[in-house]
Amino acid sequence: MDAQADILRRLREYESRNVTYLDPRGGWPVVWERVQGVHVWDVTGKRYLDLTAAFGVAAAGHSNRAVVKAGQKQMSQLLHAMGDVHPHARKAELVEALSRVTFERWGVGRGKTLLGSSGFEAVEAALKTAILFTQKRGVVVFEGAYHGLGYGALNATHRPYFRNPFESQLREFGHFVEFPQTSADLTKVEFQIRHYFRRERIGSILVEPIQARAGCRIPPQGFLPLLRKLCNEEGVLLILDEIYTGFGRTGKWFACEHQGVAPDIICLGKALTGGFPMSACVGRADIMDAAWPESTGEALHTSTFLGHPVGCAMALAQIQQLEELRLPERSAALGEYLAMELAEMAARVEYFHAEGRALGLMGGFQLMLPTGEPATRAVLEIIKKLLHHGFIFLPEGEAGNVVSITPPLIIPDADLAKAMEMLATLVRETSE
Ligand SMILES: Cc1ncc(COP(=O)(O)O)c(C=O)c1O
Repeated sequence: MDAQADILRRLREYESRNVTYLDPRGGWPVVWERVQGVHVWDVTGKRYLDLTAAFGVAAAGHSNRAVVKAGQKQMSQLLHAMGDVHPHARKAELVEALSRVTFERWGVGRGKTLLGSSGFEAVEAALKTAILFTQKRGVVVFEGAYHGLGYGALNATHRPYFRNPFESQLREFGHFVEFPQTSADLTKVEFQIRHYFRRERIGSILVEPIQARAGCRIPPQGFLPLLRKLCNEEGVLLILDEIYTGFGRTGKWFACEHQGVAPDIICLGKALTGGFPMSACVGRADIMDAAWPESTGEALHTSTFLGHPVGCAMALAQIQQLEELRLPERSAALGEYLAMELAEMAARVEYFHAEGRALGLMGGFQLMLPTGEPATRAVLEIIKKLLHHGFIFLPEGEAGNVVSITPPLIIPDADLAKAMEMLATLVRETSE
């Protein structure tokens, strides 16, 4: 048995069978061995171009040298500190840096941060902040939303696939409204939100500025300003989940900047560290101070690894890399090419009804069958073939019929072009 087959066999025998999808026909997944920049090598030595940045994490490139160096140095000096008890210098530097790149850049005061490990924890910290601040339990959330899978965040995640098995234990404080696709939808969305404002005790609106896992759904201009206006009118907090869209992914530091709106709280994760599990809930300082009482010795919200020194050191280096390499600007420039390429590709597709969309280096290519059904099987087949040809892509969307494109922001122009050409070829072959 070769190395890859042996590893997959062990996973099948000892890992929860719900975790790793093993295609019974073979060819999926591949076992990663090492990474550098935009490339991944599997255990057989085969090299791949990564168009996912591994869920958007490797924004400054996989194993970015400065980030790895910062992590290694920190690891040898102080591997672990004491979360909410005895802190360390990197944590102070990071919360200051997070304030600088968010609320201070937007010119709305300072930010104060609660650090966590996974994205869903940042969302849950934001939800706790909102109930402490407003004393209102209800949260307006959006159809198609993905905010993570912890029991708190799951209330705000829309997809029945994730919720149904646990529905009986969910608290049901999320009220779902439509996620707008065009400006014509905005009136309907406003009507639905006002309905919940009247009927429920709503303390916050939680929203992704672009729905990433729903298949790169980009709302119309005017959407975030509308939410901002409704929140201001009712004293409701606007929480933006920028766990996927943050740190340059969409061509700005944060996607909310495309619509000129500053939130009350922003949730960050993924690209924050470039590869260490860390997340952040950053709120406007006055709101955070009003919501959270000063600690008298026992924090209300903490965890063993809160503010992990290695994560903090890596996040600081990652933020510096994003700044020095001007990666949000690079993402914007390459994003124009990506949007054009996807639109042209969609226009050339004959059998399927195709739609391409992108903002910065967050793109999606959606395929529907002539019957109007999502082309789920075809998209999976295309992604598997892409893998075979040395390109890593992921399917997204509720029906898995969107090819998601979120490469490291350092991807060379020629590599992106090569990947788009291969995608176009395989879409064409699959239509024939
Ligand atoms: C917008 C958004 N929020 C929250 C999460 C959850 O993050 P994590 O998987 O780190 O808990 C994700 C993960 O994909 C996400 O895309």
